[in-house]
Amino acid sequence: MKIHDSIAFVSGANRGLGLSIARELLARGARKVYAGARSIDSLGADVPGIVRIQLDVADPASVAAAAAQCPDVNLLVNNAGIARVMQSTLDPAWIETAREIFETNFYGLVLSTQAFAPILAANGGGAIINVLSDTTWFSRPLLSAYSATKSAAWSFTNAARIELREQGTQVLGLHVGFMDTDMTKGYDLKKTSPQDVASHALSALESGKEEVLIDENTRLIKQSLSAERPYYLDVPALA
Ligand SMILES: NC(=O)c1ccc[n+]([C@@H]2O[C@H](COP(=O)([O-])OP(=O)(O)OC[C@H]3O[C@@H](n4cnc5c(N)ncnc54)[C@H](OP(=O)(O)O)[C@@H]3O)[C@@H](O)[C@H]2O)c1
Repeated sequence: MKIHDSIAFVSGANRGLGLSIARELLARGARKVYAGARSIDSLGADVPGIVRIQLDVADPASVAAAAAQCPDVNLLVNNAGIARVMQSTLDPAWIETAREIFETNFYGLVLSTQAFAPILAANGGGAIINVLSDTTWFSRPLLSAYSATKSAAWSFTNAARIELREQGTQVLGLHVGFMDTDMTKGYDLKKTSPQDVASHALSALESGKEEVLIDENTRLIKQSLSAERPYYLDVPALA
């Protein structure tokens, strides 16, 4: 898909990767970027081309209302996401916490895809970028509920891609390891810059790709799935 002249909707566009994607879209000539966010007051006030839209992806009515305001969209970026740190998979709070994360990372992505798919079809097919993770392919106790949401979202992405091809919609799954955003604040780890991720992902979209693995570590993790001893069997406890 060509980004020049496109009209995009980016969820969670007020900070982190979502804001970087919105800026990169405009830098590459997108005509308009709807920036969906829970708090829109200061969002994009200084960026020409940004249109602020109130959005809570965990609220079906909010997603429907946002889609109704954006009938000209031909690129949907499902970026909104949350993470919660768990102490143990046996924690009695695990299910409740997982439900909370699933509402945003999984059901929010599903709701947004369903709401925008007919709009994309009406505008020539266009594309969807689903922001996933390297944790699609491994898990550790600390982020086990979060990882489960990304594996589930990957599975949904793969099914939706097949179906949406019929209406000419390109579906790109974006997998990345730690990025330098609020989500990883306080963790002293190697992190990719969200600007680099945005640029890499949009280049992949423009070259027609359906899956992009941004960093070397993510590529190695996925490659290892077919190894005798895949990475997910030997994941270090934290790093
Ligand atoms: N950071 C990483 O290491 C990493 C790695 C792999 C994948 N990812 C994924 O990348 C995506 C972006 O994350 P990030 O790193 O940029 O994190 P971030 O800086 O914490 O930003 C998350 C964004 O999602 C929004 N959001 C959360 N829940 C929402 C909801 N219910 N409705 C609408 N917006 C909501 C947040 O808005 P508010 O300001 O309202 O909270 C914020 O704009 C997520 O899907 C995340 O899972 C992150």
